Amino acid sequence: MIFGAILAGGIGSRMNIADMPKQFLQLGDKPIIVHTLEKFLLCSRFERIYVGVHPSWLLHMQDLLEKYVPDQKERVTIVPGGSDRNSTIMNIADQIESDFGEDDSHIIVTHDSVRPFVTLRIIEENIDAALACGAVDTVVEATDTIVVSEDGKVITEIPNRRKMFQGQTPQSFRLKLLKSLYHDLSEEEKEILTDACKICVVRNQPVKLVRGEVSNLKITTISDYKIAQAMIGGNAVD
Ligand code: CTP
Repeated sequence: MIFGAILAGGIGSRMNIADMPKQFLQLGDKPIIVHTLEKFLLCSRFERIYVGVHPSWLLHMQDLLEKYVPDQKERVTIVPGGSDRNSTIMNIADQIESDFGEDDSHIIVTHDSVRPFVTLRIIEENIDAALACGAVDTVVEATDTIVVSEDGKVITEIPNRRKMFQGQTPQSFRLKLLKSLYHDLSEEEKEILTDACKICVVRNQPVKLVRGEVSNLKITTISDYKIAQAMIGGNAVD
């Protein structure tokens, strides 16, 4: 079975403009997270879509389901988020296995709640690649030259830009593979490895690339929020 996992357990500390996490801010006529959820609901291959939400915002998320997607709310399960991004993924993984049992063929498509412009094409290609390869990242070619600096003061290296990509989400996995790699990490590694694909990379598990879109931006700062508002033709809230 194939499951969506929308990650909304964060508090958006770098945004710092409202009294609510950024995924709940309005973008045009609905909150950012509703745009994201609607993209996932377009994909009929999902058995269920899980949303990992910060524990203080569970009721708010339930209200959003009733208000914006009442006819599809049975396809969505809200799960308490964890203390970091990967813990939120693991909370969702545990809930999937509690609801549907353990199965080698389960696929999980994880996605940042704050990337509302993901497309159905990207989601479908993630599913196909995860079924074929077990681990998938979504990337776009780097357009800026990437400069490496060990100390943040002088350049250590300028890698060949043609080999450089910027990571986005979705990131998709065979659920059992991701869980076993994660539980194999030390507590120290768990603290450092906030990116789910990096868990695979440090354990030499191949990760297939799916092409993302520049428009699949992550709303991290107020500037990103303003760009997102411009993309849907509205005005940013100051
Ligand atoms: N996330 C999550 N659980 C956490 C932390 C983050 O599900 N414990 C989610 C966020 O809600 C977001 C995604 O991971 O959708 C990407 O993380 P980021 O942009 O860093 O979000 P925040 O952690 O909310 O932001 P900040 O780092 O500025 O506090």
